[in-house]
Amino acid sequence: MKFFADTAEIAEIRDLAATGLLDGVTTNPSLVHKSGRNFLEVVREIADLVEGPVSAEVVAIDYDEMMREADVLRAIGDNITIKVPLTPDGLKACKALTEGGTMVNVTLCFSAAQALLAAKAGATFISPFVGRHDDVGFDGMALIADIRLIYDNYDFATQILVASVRHPMHVVEAAKIGADVMTAPPKIIHQLFKHPLTDAGIASFLKDWEATGQKI
Ligand code: E4P
Repeated sequence: MKFFADTAEIAEIRDLAATGLLDGVTTNPSLVHKSGRNFLEVVREIADLVEGPVSAEVVAIDYDEMMREADVLRAIGDNITIKVPLTPDGLKACKALTEGGTMVNVTLCFSAAQALLAAKAGATFISPFVGRHDDVGFDGMALIADIRLIYDNYDFATQILVASVRHPMHVVEAAKIGADVMTAPPKIIHQLFKHPLTDAGIASFLKDWEATGQKI
């Protein structure tokens, strides 16, 4: 499973990149707003820092303007993935961009039917939002399982990018289903390391080691 960081904070990305765990980054207009940074500037910095795909989202809702914005964004670097919304214009842009060799992440997916359309439009990634789906009383992981089944039935190459991840179990459940990628806020990626028995084990080993009076 590939790990993407869902953030526009450069320091957090740099920190995660150093662990060797980071395969890419996703941003969205809300994350850019939260960072307080200039969109193009921050995307350029992320694309320089991370080798893998960096998702940058268009904000236009009509095809022509989406394609204009995509041209500006993809000029930033070869690893830029254009994020488009799951709408008819978004999928039209997806088809044109992927046919031209640009990676596309189709975002705001909330149903298996939408995921099927994105795969047919040639999306590189489909982003089902599990957390937001759970928030309104649906089962986000059941959606991931449905999309996995459908994509496998037809050998679609579109990668399932589990988004709107809210806790470590979302990551584990998505991995069990066989999702290709998950994107999570850095805080959640760090939570994956955590287990109280690991902390307790380190403390007791260190105490016993100190009692031996030895050094390595
Ligand atoms: C990433 O591509 C999505 O935009 C993001 O995961 C959405 O997360 P949220 O539902 O926590 O805003």
